[in-house]
Amino acid sequence: MDQIRICGGKKLNGKVKISGAKNAALPILTASLLAHWECSFSNIPNVRDVTTVLHLLSDLGAKVDLLENNSVKLDSSHVCGYEAAYDLVRTMRASILVLGPLLARFGRARVSLPGGCAIGLRPVNLHLNGLRKLGAKIELHNGYIDARADKLKGCNILLETPTVTGTENLMMAACLAQGETIIKNTACEPEILDLACVLNKMGAKIQGAGTDCIRIQGVDGLSGAKYSIMPDRVEAGTFMVAAAVTGSQIQIDDCCPEHLTTVMDKLREAGVEFEEKNDKITVSAEKDLRAIDIKTAPYPSFPTDMQAQFMSLMSLAQGTSMVIETVFENRFMHVLELIRMGADIKIEGHTAMIKGVSRLSGAPVMATDLRASASLVLAGLAAEGETLISRIYHLDRGYESIEQKLASLGAEIKRLK
Ligand code: UD1
Repeated sequence: MDQIRICGGKKLNGKVKISGAKNAALPILTASLLAHWECSFSNIPNVRDVTTVLHLLSDLGAKVDLLENNSVKLDSSHVCGYEAAYDLVRTMRASILVLGPLLARFGRARVSLPGGCAIGLRPVNLHLNGLRKLGAKIELHNGYIDARADKLKGCNILLETPTVTGTENLMMAACLAQGETIIKNTACEPEILDLACVLNKMGAKIQGAGTDCIRIQGVDGLSGAKYSIMPDRVEAGTFMVAAAVTGSQIQIDDCCPEHLTTVMDKLREAGVEFEEKNDKITVSAEKDLRAIDIKTAPYPSFPTDMQAQFMSLMSLAQGTSMVIETVFENRFMHVLELIRMGADIKIEGHTAMIKGVSRLSGAPVMATDLRASASLVLAGLAAEGETLISRIYHLDRGYESIEQKLASLGAEIKRLK
């Protein structure tokens, strides 16, 4: 298994280009199942979760044509399968995103029930309840969700919690339902708006995506579309923290500053400075870092997907910081590894108290999930000496060439095969 070795303490400088958003690419790729014509998507990030979803679409019978320059052509006109098997779903929970499109287009879907997850329970009850309201008959047996419907019918759905993939699944299913569907208390993440833009280009009639109430007028069928995926706001945020923990100045290219407001506000509070120009942000972190508090919550509040990375920054800030994690039950797995690098962190329930230390020291550490891996890379960049991170397959799920991008900024980082 690959590892990443970092010799910490190097300043970063230069420019880094942000890739397309993994969390927008995944639902957009599955949306191609709704179309009778070819779809063509660009700015697709080259990460393992994308490979997994393309594999899944190809298994279902879609024609997948991976092109150069991070583009893909997908033709679902001959799809005949309706099953997402356990082997794929267990490696990527977002495989559940085929459930809505398969059911809406073919009236049948059999998708392995995602199991437990390192960061929390992550049930899919809200996806299933919403589809039932749209008229689907859903049974669970042998670890699979078996969903059937002759024709989905528009309805009113109130989500108990604003779930991101749940909103996406239901929005996709409702595109081909008869009549109007109104979904309330929807998640407002920008990736949902990106998905709605693609669906509308394919002929869907969706209003309100990106707010907490989405209206969908069902249509008979969807055609193909060409679309470029939005930039990855979590990757951009991760590079901002990389500049912050190394006391550096870097330029982040091809990002969307509007999606990063909360993250940048918190970094400003910590002493980081920004200069924005269109899709470029210059990050300067030449002052000492100050302690800050964060509470994760659905967009536009502070993203849970940036919590672990901020914990590395807080470990080196002057004073005591606090993190309250409200989205997932068990998202502090990185803490024990950070403590092994010299961080002073105490956890009580969903709250972590981080007393800033003057330095972290390199150590062998183990990645436990995607964003936890990123926090260890960031801690390694700032630490004195060598950090060896194992189980980096977690990192490869969501960061495109992270070690190459960091090395081009001057970090001493290497992948060991
Ligand atoms: C998505 C993101 C993930 C991010 C998360 C929260 C993708 C592919 N993944 O995950 O990176 O960390 O949003 O921003 O976009 N819940 C239920 N029942 C459900 C569904 C969710 O109780 O049926 C709960 C979850 O347990 C969690 C909360 O709702 O506590 C939010 O989860 P959700 O928004 O669904 O996360 P994902 O869509 O899986």
